[in-house]
Amino acid sequence: MSDETAKTTEGMDAELIPIYVMGKRYDVPDSLTIMKALEYAGYRYIRGCGCRGGICGACGTVYRKPGDYHIRVGLACQTVVEPDMYLTQIPFFPAIRSSYNFEEISADATEVHKLYPELFRCVACNACTKVCPMDVQVMDYVAAIKQGDLKKANELSFDCIQCGLCTSRCMAEMAQYHIAQMVRRIHGSKITPRAEHLQTMVDNIAAGTFDEGIEKLKTMDEETMKDVYQNRQQEPHMSQEDWKPEDPSYL
Ligand code: SF4
Ligand code: SF4
Ligand code: FES
Repeated sequence: MSDETAKTTEGMDAELIPIYVMGKRYDVPDSLTIMKALEYAGYRYIRGCGCRGGICGACGTVYRKPGDYHIRVGLACQTVVEPDMYLTQIPFFPAIRSSYNFEEISADATEVHKLYPELFRCVACNACTKVCPMDVQVMDYVAAIKQGDLKKANELSFDCIQCGLCTSRCMAEMAQYHIAQMVRRIHGSKITPRAEHLQTMVDNIAAGTFDEGIEKLKTMDEETMKDVYQNRQQEPHMSQEDWKPEDPSYL
């Protein structure tokens, strides 16, 4: 390990540690994420980087640590570097995604089975669940889809960020995340009950219920508008479902 130090962008002293990127050594501050360490080492991201906040799934990274046989994975924007980490980023993993006309798809698991028959090649090895940086129970949602339980698959796969790492390890060579995305689309659009209060509000807007209030806002001077905004009654955090504002005129 290097005994040198460097200033981080926050001005803090950080120890320099060696990491290996596609086989080449770089000494980087030990406080950085893999993504920031790569930039510190001189790489410029033009792919494989999106939100930088652990949400978009663009920055899947594979690495090993010395004396450890495990292949480890993580999101480059979330995983902090470790000494002698040997890594590479896999910004894209080729995966099959079926085409379908969503209007013609029924709310039935057989639709998913027809488009993704590879589901039934799953050998329940659980490699997908182990590799998932979001701790999604991938094997379990695959099993739920096979069993026709779209509601369960929808819930189990909800935190998927489409990073593709599960596909990179799958013995059945399926793209679990594309399959689960189809399930969530079917569930969200064709199984979940419609939000009636939303439709009521849309109807009210169309009927002109809010026209007068909108006109008032449009002609308001800036200071009055700020005042109205700052003093508006807000729904409390975690309020009960039956909460209503004191002035219900715009409900
Ligand atoms: S289920 Fe697959 S694609 Fe989704 S977050 Fe987990 S590893 Fe990534
Ligand atoms: S990695 Fe593939 S074969 Fe293994 S459990 Fe997951 S879906 Fe099934
Ligand atoms: S850049 Fe979006 S998850 Fe890492």
